[in-house]
Amino acid sequence: MPVERTLSIIKPDAVEKNRTGAILAHLEEAGFKILALRRTHLTRAEAEGFYAVHKARPFFGELVEFMTRSPVVIAVLEREDAVNAYRKVMGATDPAKADAGTLRKLFGSSVGENAVHGSDSLENAKIEISYYFPGSLVSPTA
Ligand code: TYD
Repeated sequence: MPVERTLSIIKPDAVEKNRTGAILAHLEEAGFKILALRRTHLTRAEAEGFYAVHKARPFFGELVEFMTRSPVVIAVLEREDAVNAYRKVMGATDPAKADAGTLRKLFGSSVGENAVHGSDSLENAKIEISYYFPGSLVSPTA
């Protein structure tokens, strides 16, 4: 399995509950290296740009409101098969449907407030990493 990088965001609900360290520890236990870490309060423009693919969806307004409500913690993670491995550790979008032991089951409270974001493909991981971390972090061979 190739070593990959993916983007993780600890969302406002989890940061507000002081779960940042617990989530990062969980990720390290699951074999991810934390290559970069940034706490930031997203602007409306940053959140709208990041979730532009969802612009036409009925939940877009609420999603942007939520993501800009308070600070997030954004991380670049590295591991073998990082994109798929992180999606498994994260769990289903709806915490009620997420498997036991996943981040969203442990720390999420609803479909909207589901504690963490993770890139859904290697291609999107590269786009998302460069969205928040301009420079040479995009991939192991970059
Ligand atoms: P999506 O990309 O479908 O899920 P995932 O985060 O698991 O890749 O949706 C992006 C975010 O949009 C999701 O994490 C929470 C929010 N969302 C809602 O608020 N309501 C919804 O019905 C859906 C599908 C998503």
